Amino acid sequence: MALDFYEKVWHNGKFISWNEATIHVASHVVSYGSCLFEGIRAYETPKGPAIMRLADHVDRLANSAKIYRTETSFTREQLRQAMIELVRVNSVKSCYIRPLIFRGYGGLGVNPLNNPVEIYLLAWKWGKYLGDEALKQGVDVCVSSWNRIAPNTLPAMAKAAANYMNAQLIKMEAITNGYTEGIALDHAGNISEGSGENVFVVRNGTIYTPPLGSSVLPGITRASIIQLAGEAGIPVVEQVLVREILYVADEVFFSGTAAEVTPVRSVDRIPVGKGQPGPVTQQLQKRYLDIVEGRAEDKFGWLTYCN
Ligand SMILES: Cc1ncc(COP(=O)(O)O)c(C=O)c1O
Repeated sequence: MALDFYEKVWHNGKFISWNEATIHVASHVVSYGSCLFEGIRAYETPKGPAIMRLADHVDRLANSAKIYRTETSFTREQLRQAMIELVRVNSVKSCYIRPLIFRGYGGLGVNPLNNPVEIYLLAWKWGKYLGDEALKQGVDVCVSSWNRIAPNTLPAMAKAAANYMNAQLIKMEAITNGYTEGIALDHAGNISEGSGENVFVVRNGTIYTPPLGSSVLPGITRASIIQLAGEAGIPVVEQVLVREILYVADEVFFSGTAAEVTPVRSVDRIPVGKGQPGPVTQQLQKRYLDIVEGRAEDKFGWLTYCN
């Protein structure tokens, strides 16, 4: 499917056109996946376009780059401003923003340290990531036969392009077998996350989610869900979760910038609860969307307005 992209792309401090935003095939990133990136949404609100948790995304990007010793000449403040500018120059109403920091053209040995660091910010229109009906009806998922990256192999805290080779295996297997998404287990066989989402389980009125030690990306939507559960007085426990809790949970849902709050209605063809989105998931989904789409007061200060 063609990308419904916005024309202006930010590259190392300047705006260029979408068609100019190309790299040489000999760039380090092409051979070795040496890229850190983000996925951010700007929502259309009654007060104009607003970027969701901009500072948190820029912090995670900067931390991913720090883990991989990828120094850039731009401060976090400059990157935040550049993303606001990207939304403005493209007259965006709502979009998905993809910042990329990668190692460019230079030597082609494994050592990236002498290759130039390139930064691009792109934007395109993205609807509901897991399908139009996913938010309302829920999705059917499987437990993947692929494990998530093990500790001290590829760092799960970094949102690095190379991690998404693992994510692609999880996603392709799920799709090929007729599921919308796969949930991967960690190296020890406990629940980790989806190919592009964090996982939550609801059981007897408590919400559970795996800790960072289970090879999960520290999701920004995950953090938002934990805040919203706190606001609603629903206990949240971050703990190691055994696979089989997915089969006996009252509710299971995904969180993610792209997936937002998506109910899971079955796992390995076993219905979750009654096989339809449950009340806790629906309550949190509604509250999340009401805030990000500007229908409810932004009491957590999540939104950065761009006009
Ligand atoms: C592997 C993975 N886990 C979790 C998430 C959810 O993170 P966030 O809520 O910050 O988008 C994503 C999406 O970026 C992801 O790719």
